Amino acid sequence: MKKEFLWGSSISAGQCEGGFESRSETVVDMIPQGKTTRFQYLNHPGKYLEEQEGFFPSRKGVEFYEHYREDIALYAKMGLKALRFSILWSRVFKDDSLTPNEEALAFYDDVINELLKYGIEPIITTIHFDMPLWVVKKYNGFVNRQVISLYQHYIETIVNRYHDRVKYWISYCEINVMNHALYMVGGTVLKESEDRDSVLLQCAYHKLIGNAILVRTCHEVDKDLKVGCEVAGTPTYPLTSSPLDYQLMMNEERRDTRFTDVMVKGKIPYYFRKELNDHGIDILEEDENLFKNNTLDFIAVSYYKTSLASHEGVKDNPLLETTPFGWTIDPKGMRIMLNKMYERYEVPIMIVENGLGTYDKIEDGKIHDDYRIDYLSKHIEQMEKAMDDGVEVIGYLTWAAMDVVSTSEGMMSKRYGFIYVDRNDDGSGTLKRYPKDSFYWYQNLILEKSGKKE
Ligand code: BG6
Repeated sequence: MKKEFLWGSSISAGQCEGGFESRSETVVDMIPQGKTTRFQYLNHPGKYLEEQEGFFPSRKGVEFYEHYREDIALYAKMGLKALRFSILWSRVFKDDSLTPNEEALAFYDDVINELLKYGIEPIITTIHFDMPLWVVKKYNGFVNRQVISLYQHYIETIVNRYHDRVKYWISYCEINVMNHALYMVGGTVLKESEDRDSVLLQCAYHKLIGNAILVRTCHEVDKDLKVGCEVAGTPTYPLTSSPLDYQLMMNEERRDTRFTDVMVKGKIPYYFRKELNDHGIDILEEDENLFKNNTLDFIAVSYYKTSLASHEGVKDNPLLETTPFGWTIDPKGMRIMLNKMYERYEVPIMIVENGLGTYDKIEDGKIHDDYRIDYLSKHIEQMEKAMDDGVEVIGYLTWAAMDVVSTSEGMMSKRYGFIYVDRNDDGSGTLKRYPKDSFYWYQNLILEKSGKKE
């Protein structure tokens, strides 16, 4: 393991930042808490964006905005070498006026400086399911080509401000999750008269242009900046040896590789070109040149689970155990995913999310989360096997550094962190932070793996 390997963790603004009064709303601020997946919110034609009844957990998050010094001190105590966080576009630009909010920029200055003070590498995601609501209301998100220039202005603002201190940039969180979360990832609300696939493909095409512009912007400012985009790495196995299941698996994989092929190879693959053509999406020569000349330096990937392709559609693998939230647990799938990705692209891979979302119990200020330690150890073991296979992995960042509002359900009680945050599903709680057993385990692991332990 190289000395500079980034052992770290991740958080996102929309799930932890809060500070609602000093910014404008994001897409997740508008999704009420609910047990059915929030990824699906506004996903069907006929639903329109309007103020809903209910409790909106993302508006408060876990108040990282107020607690960031204390939180970063805890991350430093844990020994994190890297922290991935997202900047809120809706804090930097509260609306589509061209002048950024200086108070917001100063806040992120502080966050970055605080991380650097402890030797923690800051890794920035420019949008993590937290697109400004004004982009949705006024432009209907990435389906509208005009949004690319708004995004460009936003990223130029933050890259110019932070490039001297931030080397790693990630355009978007899980671009491929847009396949089933058009509103949360694309910022687009589907209208009744519209064909979902056409809208999705148009959004995807525009987001890919935005990604290439981030690569160009960063490299123009400093050729040593490293740019990635996060994809959800969810391998699909065929249910049986039937050629039909294999074909279905291949189709499923292409829904993801259509993004990475463009971003890493700089070329629209034939199957994606066909889809775009079939749906009447214009492919401009200038866009193709942009893709070609601005490819990613690394792939950022999240890994949580795997699934099965069968004639009944995509389903869960009955041979695998699941978390209390029904997510399959498949550490070996991590090695497979990393090998497949590296075989196809041969660029460095940074794991930017991996973790167990489950209920924790706090007793006398202690949280004995041996189940989380077990989950993470098994995944790290498989990552190391993939590295022995020859895959170039440059970092392992868990989800999440501390408990945050879950994306799917908007719940606090689905916890992923090394640090327990005293906040309940109904928003009550002191917001006090408590290191879990896994905090000390990770602290020790980082020391050992970095050769700093006798
Ligand atoms: C990833 C997202 O998809 O999964 C995170 O990038 C999210 O935002 C994580 O929190 C875990 O999912 P969930 O729904 O359990 O919070």
